Amino acid sequence: MGRRYLVTGGAGFVGSHTVAALLDRGDAVVVLDDLSTGHRAAVPDGARLVVGALEDAAGVDALLSEGPWDAVLHFAALSLVGESMQAPYRYLATNLDNGVRLIAACVRHDVRRFVLSSTAALFGAGSDAPIDEEAAIDPGSPYGESKAMLERALLWAERVHGLRSASLRYFNAAGADPAGRLGEDHAPETHLIPLVIDAALGRRPELAVFGDDYPTPDGTCVRDYVHVSDLADAHLRALARLDQGSVRYNLGNGRGHSVLQVIEAVGRLCGRPVPHRIAPRRAGDPPMLVAASGRIMRETGWQPRFADLDGIVGTALAWREAHPHGYRTPPA
Ligand code: UFG
Repeated sequence: MGRRYLVTGGAGFVGSHTVAALLDRGDAVVVLDDLSTGHRAAVPDGARLVVGALEDAAGVDALLSEGPWDAVLHFAALSLVGESMQAPYRYLATNLDNGVRLIAACVRHDVRRFVLSSTAALFGAGSDAPIDEEAAIDPGSPYGESKAMLERALLWAERVHGLRSASLRYFNAAGADPAGRLGEDHAPETHLIPLVIDAALGRRPELAVFGDDYPTPDGTCVRDYVHVSDLADAHLRALARLDQGSVRYNLGNGRGHSVLQVIEAVGRLCGRPVPHRIAPRRAGDPPMLVAASGRIMRETGWQPRFADLDGIVGTALAWREAHPHGYRTPPA
């Protein structure tokens, strides 16, 4: 029998690209998504979509009882750093409740492997140096805190029940499926690269740069943008590695780009300047987050195919140009 996976949040950005990668190699996938932020059209053909919420414990139980599952991949979560500073308890309660309940249900249904979408926001204070897996966990936002707590919960699930897990700390997921099947579509959009592209294409008046007085080379925040298809590939490799034990990996390209550098790259690729203005800082934003991803490279052979910013922005631009309304049907 082939491999079979349950993917929560498989209609979301990183989730849908990972589902596509699993399907591409011939695995069977069931997606559980409440479509609150994901899109029906983002679920790749070949996956079965179950529209349901993680809060529906009986529904999750019923689905898990359709096992055996080779693993559960848990993407579904609230995931915005800035929003979590406005609604800290909603972030903590939702992500923690849903995650812990799902982990417990996996244990009850004898699922042996679990993959958690974790985040660079664990390292909230940021650092000038690339951040490896030994760096101190010190979330700068309730969002990062919620993922730090789930990573801890998984440690206990392993100690007590032997559930193996991969905690994959994504730095800044960006780009789009190079084959053009999938892309990034949040409503409202808050992520830098799609917003800069929309400003360049004249679909929004300008880009607000959140702060230019950070202790970084040009004063704007520095992030490690990593292609979503490279993240999807990391999931496949981490799953294989679970045969040898649980893992935690920091996933990025190891190179930082400032907000102004992203604006420059998008403007150059679009062939027109990006209208922008300097705005106040956004609460919760660390100045700099750059990954040291040597561990997953050494242990699994992972190597990002999109190592430079132009390649990442190029795929995002292609998808956004082809899908001006994202996954939504254009208004009549
Ligand atoms: N930014 C702007 N203007 C905007 C939007 C963003 O200046 O209109 C800046 C932000 O201040 C930040 C950078 O662009 O410095 C990137 O912001 P994003 O909102 O694109 O991404 P974040 O770094 O806030 O967060 C993302 C994911 C999180 C994840 C984190 C890991 O949304 O889930 O990357 O680094 F935890």
